[in-house]
Amino acid sequence: MNTGILGMGRYVPDKIITNADLEKVMDTSDEWIRTRTGIEERRIAEEEENTSHMGVKAAKKAVEQAGIAPEEIDLIIVATVTPDYSFPSVACMIQEQIGARKAAAMDISAACAGFMYGIVTAKQFIDTGVYKYVLVVGVEKLSRILDWNDRNTAVLFGDGAGAALLGPVSEGRGILSFELGADGSGFKHLYQDQHVKMNGREVFKFAVRQMGESCINVLEKAGLQKEDVDFLLPHQANIRIMEAARQRLDLPIEKMSVTINKYGNTSAASIPLTFVEELEAGNIKDDDLLVMVGFGGGLTWGAIAMRWGR
Ligand code: UT7
Repeated sequence: MNTGILGMGRYVPDKIITNADLEKVMDTSDEWIRTRTGIEERRIAEEEENTSHMGVKAAKKAVEQAGIAPEEIDLIIVATVTPDYSFPSVACMIQEQIGARKAAAMDISAACAGFMYGIVTAKQFIDTGVYKYVLVVGVEKLSRILDWNDRNTAVLFGDGAGAALLGPVSEGRGILSFELGADGSGFKHLYQDQHVKMNGREVFKFAVRQMGESCINVLEKAGLQKEDVDFLLPHQANIRIMEAARQRLDLPIEKMSVTINKYGNTSAASIPLTFVEELEAGNIKDDDLLVMVGFGGGLTWGAIAMRWGR
């Protein structure tokens, strides 16, 4: 047996903020945002809609699709940097609201690489046979911690959620290899005190290098080649960073998933959100080799090579 994904779900708020909307409230332009980042619009949660509410919606779909009962879930891991409260964890709130009575629950903080950290943590419990079913949710309400007067950051981010229910799958399927990493010396390039603060250029340079390297590393660890990759699911931070990773893998353009145009950067939610969109579109097929890769504040990074299917 191996560990894989049994079901997934996603959720985004209804409210759309376009680049044209932002032009009206700050010194920016649709042209600048599109060409520098690939973003056209983003979703923004209502005041009363919190991180936990969005996470619950994505989680319920993942559990339903996996075909298990909420009571069977052993552990819930939520990757987020925008929890409703410092404590209790968003994971506890989701546990209660989906009726996962026997599940342990915790949040992890690894910023935009959070979903990668969550999946890899889940894998350890399932591989060892300690737990059978682990729910991993990546969810953010970044609109709450943005400085809407700072055009350097306000135009980049959005709100949303994605979730995956992990459990045992047959040998050869599921997670084949992974890499996680961190470089705390880069903390000053991307952090939150009251609002998100970012040195865009430094993060950009780091991301271009790290995304490509991590993809190559997980392929090597799995004994696979670049040509074996069916889909690259990168963290959606900037289309130019994603393009650099795609080129490093020599992948044709249609093999990289792109949702940044619609959702902006949703941090820990971006990879699962994009993953679910590809599944819904019927683009990911049984036995496909997928590479997920993310990076973010910390600095942190993570990549996973996975064979889709049970
Ligand atoms: O999940 C991880 C989170 N973060 C990231 O992944 C971010 C990584 N970095 C990036 O994506 C890019 O560095 C940015 C999109 C943030 C910026 O793009 P850039 O090509 O690195 O632009 P820049 O920082 O070099 O700025 C170019 C110019 C500056 O003007 P001056 O100093 O050249 O006159 C900025 O003030 O663009 C200006 N600028 C803007 N102009 C219009 C910055 N933000 C905006 C804006 N609208 N929203």
